[in-house]
Amino acid sequence: MIVLDKVSVSFKQKGRIISAVKEASLTVAKGEIFGIVGTSGAGKSTLVRVINLLQPPGSGRVLIGGEDITAFKGASLRNMRLKMGMIFQHFNLISGATVYDNIAFALKANCCPEAAIAGKVHALLEQVNLTDKAQVYPASLSGGQKQRVAIARALANDPEILLCDEATSALDLENTEEIIRILRRINKETSITIVFITHEMDVARKLFDRIAVMADGEIVEAGDTYQIFTEPRHPMSQALVSRVLNIEVPEHLELEASEELLKITYTGEKAYEPLISKVSKEFDVLVDILHGKIEYIQGKPLGVLLIKLNGPEAEIVNARSYIAGQVFKLERLSAGGKGEERIG
Ligand SMILES: Nc1ncnc2c1ncn2[C@@H]1O[C@H](COP(=O)(O)OP(=O)(O)OP(=O)(O)O)[C@@H](O)[C@H]1O
Ligand SMILES: [Mg+2]
Repeated sequence: MIVLDKVSVSFKQKGRIISAVKEASLTVAKGEIFGIVGTSGAGKSTLVRVINLLQPPGSGRVLIGGEDITAFKGASLRNMRLKMGMIFQHFNLISGATVYDNIAFALKANCCPEAAIAGKVHALLEQVNLTDKAQVYPASLSGGQKQRVAIARALANDPEILLCDEATSALDLENTEEIIRILRRINKETSITIVFITHEMDVARKLFDRIAVMADGEIVEAGDTYQIFTEPRHPMSQALVSRVLNIEVPEHLELEASEELLKITYTGEKAYEPLISKVSKEFDVLVDILHGKIEYIQGKPLGVLLIKLNGPEAEIVNARSYIAGQVFKLERLSAGGKGEERIG
Protein backbone atom coordinates (compact mmCIF):
# COMPACT_ATOMS: atom_id res chain seq x y z
CA MET A 1 0.00 0.00 0.00
CA ILE A 2 2.80 2.40 0.87
CA VAL A 3 6.39 2.27 -0.32
CA LEU A 4 8.98 4.85 0.59
CA ASP A 5 12.09 4.34 -1.49
CA LYS A 6 15.27 6.03 -0.27
CA VAL A 7 13.44 9.18 0.79
CA SER A 8 15.54 12.11 1.99
CA VAL A 9 14.40 15.48 3.32
CA SER A 10 16.61 18.35 4.35
CA PHE A 11 15.80 21.82 5.60
CA LYS A 12 17.81 24.99 5.29
CA GLN A 13 17.79 26.97 8.47
CA LYS A 14 19.92 30.05 9.10
CA GLY A 15 22.37 28.92 6.45
CA ARG A 16 22.66 25.47 8.01
CA ILE A 17 21.38 22.34 6.35
CA ILE A 18 19.43 19.96 8.57
CA SER A 19 19.08 16.41 7.25
CA ALA A 20 15.74 15.48 8.80
CA VAL A 21 15.28 12.22 6.88
CA LYS A 22 18.15 10.27 5.32
CA GLU A 23 17.49 7.68 2.61
CA ALA A 24 14.60 6.13 4.50
CA SER A 25 12.94 3.11 2.89
CA LEU A 26 9.92 1.23 4.14
CA THR A 27 7.00 -0.85 2.90
CA VAL A 28 3.60 -0.92 4.56
CA ALA A 29 1.17 -3.67 3.57
CA LYS A 30 -2.55 -3.08 3.07
CA GLY A 31 -4.49 -3.38 6.31
CA GLU A 32 -1.41 -3.19 8.49
CA ILE A 33 -0.96 -1.01 11.57
CA PHE A 34 2.56 0.22 11.05
CA GLY A 35 4.33 2.20 13.74
CA ILE A 36 7.29 4.54 13.55
CA VAL A 37 9.02 5.18 16.85
CA GLY A 38 11.99 7.26 17.87
CA THR A 39 13.06 10.04 20.17
CA SER A 40 12.26 13.70 19.64
CA GLY A 41 13.79 15.17 16.50
CA ALA A 42 14.41 11.75 14.92
CA GLY A 43 12.47 12.81 11.81
CA LYS A 44 9.21 10.90 12.41
CA SER A 45 6.80 13.74 11.62
CA THR A 46 8.80 14.73 8.56
CA LEU A 47 8.73 11.14 7.29
CA VAL A 48 5.00 10.69 7.80
CA ARG A 49 4.31 13.99 6.02
CA VAL A 50 6.21 12.68 3.02
CA ILE A 51 3.60 9.92 2.62
CA ASN A 52 0.89 12.43 1.64
CA LEU A 53 3.44 14.86 0.17
CA LEU A 54 2.65 17.56 2.72
CA GLN A 55 6.43 17.40 2.78
CA PRO A 56 7.80 16.72 -0.71
CA PRO A 57 11.00 14.65 -0.50
CA GLY A 58 14.27 16.17 -1.71
CA SER A 59 15.09 12.81 -3.24
CA GLY A 60 13.61 9.32 -3.34
CA ARG A 61 10.20 8.02 -4.36
CA VAL A 62 6.78 7.63 -2.76
CA LEU A 63 4.49 4.88 -4.07
CA ILE A 64 0.86 4.51 -3.01
CA GLY A 65 -0.96 1.37 -4.12
CA GLY A 66 1.88 0.70 -6.54
CA GLU A 67 1.66 4.12 -8.18
CA ASP A 68 4.58 6.56 -8.04
CA ILE A 69 3.05 9.78 -6.68
CA THR A 70 6.29 11.67 -6.04
CA ALA A 71 5.69 14.13 -8.86
CA PHE A 72 1.90 14.51 -8.37
CA LYS A 73 0.56 18.08 -8.44
CA GLY A 74 -2.80 19.86 -8.65
CA ALA A 75 -5.83 17.63 -9.20
CA SER A 76 -3.92 14.34 -9.09
CA LEU A 77 -2.36 15.33 -5.76
CA ARG A 78 -5.76 16.36 -4.35
CA ASN A 79 -7.37 13.09 -5.45
CA MET A 80 -4.54 11.06 -4.01
CA ARG A 81 -4.84 12.92 -0.69
CA LEU A 82 -8.51 11.98 -0.49
CA LYS A 83 -7.28 8.42 -0.01
CA MET A 84 -5.53 9.50 3.17
CA GLY A 85 -6.86 10.82 6.45
CA MET A 86 -4.61 12.34 9.06
CA ILE A 87 -4.85 12.99 12.80
CA PHE A 88 -2.49 14.97 15.01
CA GLN A 89 -1.45 15.33 18.63
CA HIS A 90 -3.50 18.51 19.13
CA PHE A 91 -6.64 17.39 17.27
CA ASN A 92 -6.90 20.55 15.06
CA LEU A 93 -10.70 20.79 15.33
CA ILE A 94 -12.61 23.92 14.33
CA SER A 95 -13.50 25.42 17.70
CA GLY A 96 -16.42 27.52 16.40
CA ALA A 97 -18.18 24.51 14.86
CA THR A 98 -20.10 21.68 16.51
CA VAL A 99 -18.84 18.11 16.40
CA TYR A 100 -21.42 17.45 13.67
CA ASP A 101 -20.21 20.38 11.55
CA ASN A 102 -16.54 19.52 12.05
CA ILE A 103 -17.23 16.21 10.35
CA ALA A 104 -19.78 17.57 7.85
CA PHE A 105 -17.23 20.14 6.59
CA ALA A 106 -14.88 17.34 5.57
CA LEU A 107 -17.70 15.65 3.63
CA LYS A 108 -18.76 18.91 1.95
CA ALA A 109 -15.18 19.66 0.96
CA ASN A 110 -15.30 16.44 -1.04
CA CYS A 111 -18.67 17.32 -2.64
CA CYS A 112 -20.71 14.76 -0.68
CA PRO A 113 -24.41 15.17 -1.68
CA GLU A 114 -26.29 17.26 0.91
CA ALA A 115 -28.87 14.50 1.48
CA ALA A 116 -26.19 11.94 2.38
CA ILE A 117 -24.35 14.07 4.94
CA ALA A 118 -26.50 13.56 8.06
CA GLY A 119 -26.50 9.77 7.73
CA LYS A 120 -22.79 9.66 7.06
CA VAL A 121 -21.93 11.90 10.05
CA HIS A 122 -24.08 9.73 12.29
CA ALA A 123 -22.38 6.55 11.08
CA LEU A 124 -18.94 8.08 11.66
CA LEU A 125 -19.89 9.20 15.17
CA GLU A 126 -21.09 5.69 15.88
CA GLN A 127 -17.70 4.31 14.85
CA VAL A 128 -16.01 6.44 17.51
CA ASN A 129 -18.72 6.05 20.21
CA LEU A 130 -19.77 9.71 20.18
CA THR A 131 -23.34 9.77 18.87
CA ASP A 132 -24.50 11.76 21.91
CA LYS A 133 -22.02 14.60 21.25
CA ALA A 134 -23.09 15.68 17.74
CA GLN A 135 -24.36 19.13 18.76
CA VAL A 136 -21.61 19.89 21.26
CA TYR A 137 -18.68 22.28 20.65
CA PRO A 138 -15.09 20.96 20.92
CA ALA A 139 -14.37 23.13 23.99
CA SER A 140 -16.69 20.99 26.12
CA LEU A 141 -15.08 17.69 25.11
CA SER A 142 -12.28 15.82 26.86
CA GLY A 143 -9.00 15.33 25.01
CA GLY A 144 -9.91 11.75 24.20
CA GLN A 145 -13.32 12.79 22.85
CA LYS A 146 -11.70 15.51 20.72
CA GLN A 147 -9.35 12.95 19.24
CA ARG A 148 -12.30 10.68 18.49
CA VAL A 149 -13.96 13.54 16.59
CA ALA A 150 -10.70 14.03 14.69
CA ILE A 151 -10.68 10.31 13.83
CA ALA A 152 -14.29 10.51 12.58
CA ARG A 153 -13.39 13.54 10.48
CA ALA A 154 -10.27 11.85 9.09
CA LEU A 155 -12.37 8.84 8.08
CA ALA A 156 -15.14 10.96 6.51
CA ASN A 157 -14.16 10.34 2.90
CA ASP A 158 -13.44 6.62 3.35
CA PRO A 159 -9.68 6.89 3.05
CA GLU A 160 -7.55 3.79 2.47
CA ILE A 161 -4.79 5.12 4.70
CA LEU A 162 -4.89 6.83 8.10
CA LEU A 163 -1.78 8.76 9.14
CA CYS A 164 -1.45 9.48 12.86
CA ASP A 165 1.18 11.85 14.23
CA GLU A 166 1.51 11.41 18.01
CA ALA A 167 -2.27 10.98 18.17
CA THR A 168 -2.23 9.82 21.80
CA SER A 169 0.67 11.87 23.13
CA ALA A 170 -1.54 14.58 24.65
CA LEU A 171 -3.87 12.07 26.31
CA ASP A 172 -3.95 10.35 29.67
CA LEU A 173 -3.69 6.59 30.01
CA GLU A 174 -7.42 5.93 29.92
CA ASN A 175 -8.08 8.01 26.81
CA THR A 176 -5.00 6.55 25.14
CA GLU A 177 -6.42 3.05 25.72
CA GLU A 178 -9.75 4.11 24.24
CA ILE A 179 -8.12 5.54 21.10
CA ILE A 180 -6.05 2.35 20.71
CA ARG A 181 -9.21 0.22 21.02
CA ILE A 182 -11.08 2.32 18.46
CA LEU A 183 -8.22 2.33 15.95
CA ARG A 184 -7.77 -1.44 16.26
CA ARG A 185 -11.49 -2.02 15.77
CA ILE A 186 -11.71 0.28 12.74
CA ASN A 187 -8.60 -1.35 11.29
CA LYS A 188 -10.18 -4.78 11.70
CA GLU A 189 -13.57 -3.78 10.31
CA THR A 190 -12.42 -1.73 7.33
CA SER A 191 -8.87 -3.03 6.62
CA ILE A 192 -7.71 0.58 6.56
CA THR A 193 -3.92 0.86 6.56
CA ILE A 194 -2.66 2.84 9.55
CA VAL A 195 0.71 4.55 9.91
CA PHE A 196 1.14 5.78 13.47
CA ILE A 197 4.13 7.65 14.79
CA THR A 198 4.82 7.96 18.47
CA HIS A 199 7.53 8.16 21.08
CA GLU A 200 5.34 6.16 23.49
CA MET A 201 6.53 2.53 23.53
CA ASP A 202 3.51 1.53 25.58
CA VAL A 203 1.30 2.53 22.65
CA ALA A 204 3.66 0.72 20.28
CA ARG A 205 3.41 -2.62 22.10
CA LYS A 206 -0.40 -2.51 22.21
CA LEU A 207 -1.21 -1.14 18.79
CA PHE A 208 1.37 -1.90 16.12
CA ASP A 209 1.70 -4.95 13.91
CA ARG A 210 5.14 -3.86 12.75
CA ILE A 211 7.53 -1.15 13.87
CA ALA A 212 10.24 0.94 12.28
CA VAL A 213 12.70 2.60 14.64
CA MET A 214 14.07 5.99 13.62
CA ALA A 215 17.19 7.63 14.95
CA ASP A 216 18.76 10.79 13.66
CA GLY A 217 16.83 10.76 10.37
CA GLU A 218 17.47 7.11 9.56
CA ILE A 219 15.36 3.99 9.88
CA VAL A 220 17.75 1.91 11.93
CA GLU A 221 15.61 -1.18 12.39
CA ALA A 222 12.23 -2.50 11.29
CA GLY A 223 10.35 -5.65 12.12
CA ASP A 224 7.46 -7.45 13.72
CA THR A 225 6.45 -5.74 16.98
CA TYR A 226 7.02 -8.79 19.17
CA GLN A 227 10.41 -9.34 17.56
CA ILE A 228 11.48 -5.73 18.11
CA PHE A 229 10.48 -5.94 21.77
CA THR A 230 12.10 -9.31 22.42
CA GLU A 231 15.19 -9.03 20.22
CA PRO A 232 15.99 -5.37 19.57
CA ARG A 233 19.25 -5.15 17.65
CA HIS A 234 20.02 -1.46 17.30
CA PRO A 235 21.07 0.45 20.45
CA MET A 236 18.20 2.93 19.89
CA SER A 237 15.65 0.09 19.75
CA GLN A 238 17.21 -1.45 22.83
CA ALA A 239 16.98 1.87 24.70
CA LEU A 240 13.33 2.39 23.71
CA VAL A 241 12.30 -1.17 24.55
CA SER A 242 14.07 -1.25 27.90
CA ARG A 243 11.74 1.52 29.09
CA VAL A 244 8.79 -0.84 28.81
CA LEU A 245 10.46 -3.86 30.36
CA ASN A 246 12.39 -1.89 32.86
CA ILE A 247 13.58 -4.13 35.66
CA GLU A 248 15.49 -2.33 38.33
CA VAL A 249 18.25 -4.07 40.19
CA PRO A 250 17.62 -3.28 43.89
CA GLU A 251 19.77 -0.41 45.03
CA HIS A 252 22.69 -1.20 47.34
CA LEU A 253 22.61 -4.82 46.26
CA GLU A 254 25.96 -6.37 47.01
CA LEU A 255 26.94 -9.77 45.73
CA GLU A 256 29.11 -12.15 47.62
CA ALA A 257 31.72 -14.25 45.85
CA SER A 258 29.37 -17.24 45.85
CA GLU A 259 26.47 -15.28 44.38
CA GLU A 260 25.44 -14.50 40.86
CA LEU A 261 22.76 -12.20 39.47
CA LEU A 262 20.81 -13.39 36.43
CA LYS A 263 18.18 -11.78 34.26
CA ILE A 264 15.84 -14.22 32.57
CA THR A 265 13.63 -13.26 29.67
CA TYR A 266 10.92 -15.71 28.77
CA THR A 267 8.20 -15.76 26.16
CA GLY A 268 4.99 -17.69 25.86
CA GLU A 269 2.58 -18.61 28.61
CA LYS A 270 4.96 -20.99 30.39
CA ALA A 271 5.18 -19.97 34.01
CA TYR A 272 8.58 -19.66 35.61
CA GLU A 273 7.83 -21.14 39.07
CA PRO A 274 8.39 -24.77 38.00
CA LEU A 275 11.73 -23.76 36.51
CA ILE A 276 12.87 -22.04 39.68
CA SER A 277 11.85 -24.92 41.97
CA LYS A 278 13.43 -27.42 39.60
CA VAL A 279 16.72 -25.49 39.68
CA SER A 280 16.82 -25.39 43.47
CA LYS A 281 16.02 -29.10 43.67
CA GLU A 282 18.40 -30.37 41.01
CA PHE A 283 21.39 -28.20 41.76
CA ASP A 284 23.09 -27.29 44.98
CA VAL A 285 22.13 -23.63 44.73
CA LEU A 286 19.82 -21.24 46.55
CA VAL A 287 17.55 -19.24 44.26
CA ASP A 288 16.30 -15.83 45.31
CA ILE A 289 13.70 -14.05 43.19
CA LEU A 290 14.42 -10.32 43.35
CA HIS A 291 11.99 -8.98 40.78
CA GLY A 292 9.54 -10.25 38.17
CA LYS A 293 7.35 -8.68 35.55
CA ILE A 294 5.20 -9.73 32.63
CA GLU A 295 4.20 -7.37 29.84
CA TYR A 296 1.96 -8.15 26.93
CA ILE A 297 3.22 -7.24 23.47
CA GLN A 298 0.40 -7.43 20.96
CA GLY A 299 -1.38 -9.67 23.43
CA LYS A 300 1.58 -12.07 23.69
CA PRO A 301 3.33 -12.34 27.05
CA LEU A 302 6.95 -11.36 27.60
CA GLY A 303 8.33 -11.96 31.07
CA VAL A 304 11.45 -10.76 32.80
CA LEU A 305 12.75 -12.23 36.04
CA LEU A 306 15.68 -11.15 38.14
CA ILE A 307 17.16 -13.94 40.28
CA LYS A 308 20.16 -14.44 42.51
CA LEU A 309 21.94 -17.77 42.65
CA ASN A 310 24.07 -18.71 45.62
CA GLY A 311 26.23 -21.81 45.81
CA PRO A 312 29.49 -23.48 44.79
CA GLU A 313 30.80 -22.20 41.49
CA ALA A 314 30.53 -25.52 39.64
CA GLU A 315 26.86 -25.83 40.67
CA ILE A 316 26.12 -22.27 39.59
CA VAL A 317 27.65 -22.97 36.19
CA ASN A 318 25.47 -26.08 35.81
CA ALA A 319 22.31 -24.33 37.01
CA ARG A 320 23.02 -21.46 34.67
CA SER A 321 23.40 -23.62 31.62
CA TYR A 322 20.25 -25.55 32.55
CA ILE A 323 18.26 -22.30 32.81
CA ALA A 324 19.72 -21.02 29.55
CA GLY A 325 18.28 -24.06 27.81
CA GLN A 326 14.80 -23.42 29.18
CA VAL A 327 14.28 -19.71 28.60
CA PHE A 328 14.30 -17.22 25.76
CA LYS A 329 17.28 -15.23 26.97
CA LEU A 330 19.62 -15.37 29.93
CA GLU A 331 21.96 -12.57 30.95
CA ARG A 332 24.47 -12.32 33.78
CA LEU A 333 24.40 -8.97 35.56
CA SER A 334 26.84 -7.29 37.89
CA ALA A 335 25.67 -6.09 41.29
CA GLY A 336 24.91 -2.66 39.86
CA GLY A 337 22.75 -4.24 37.17
CA LYS A 338 25.33 -3.31 34.58
CA GLY A 339 27.92 -5.24 32.65
CA GLU A 340 25.32 -7.44 31.03
CA GLU A 341 26.62 -10.59 29.46
CA ARG A 342 24.39 -12.74 27.33
CA ILE A 343 24.69 -16.40 28.18
CA GLY A 344 21.98 -18.08 26.19
N1 LIG B 1 10.05 23.05 8.66
C1 LIG B 1 11.25 22.81 9.20
N2 LIG B 1 12.29 23.66 9.05
C2 LIG B 1 13.49 23.39 9.59
N3 LIG B 1 13.80 22.29 10.29
C3 LIG B 1 12.81 21.40 10.48
C4 LIG B 1 11.49 21.60 9.95
N4 LIG B 1 10.72 20.54 10.30
C5 LIG B 1 11.53 19.71 11.01
N5 LIG B 1 12.77 20.22 11.11
C6 LIG B 1 13.92 19.57 11.79
O1 LIG B 1 14.04 18.25 11.30
C7 LIG B 1 14.35 17.33 12.34
C8 LIG B 1 13.27 16.27 12.42
O2 LIG B 1 12.07 16.85 12.88
P1 LIG B 1 10.71 16.04 13.07
O3 LIG B 1 9.67 17.01 13.47
O4 LIG B 1 10.45 15.23 11.85
O5 LIG B 1 11.08 15.07 14.26
P2 LIG B 1 10.12 14.14 15.16
O6 LIG B 1 10.78 12.82 15.20
O7 LIG B 1 8.73 14.21 14.67
O8 LIG B 1 10.24 14.81 16.59
P3 LIG B 1 9.10 14.95 17.76
O9 LIG B 1 9.04 13.60 18.41
O10 LIG B 1 9.69 15.98 18.67
O11 LIG B 1 7.84 15.37 17.11
C9 LIG B 1 14.50 18.17 13.59
O12 LIG B 1 15.85 18.45 13.75
C10 LIG B 1 13.71 19.43 13.29
O13 LIG B 1 14.22 20.51 13.98
MG1 LIG C 1 6.93 14.88 15.49
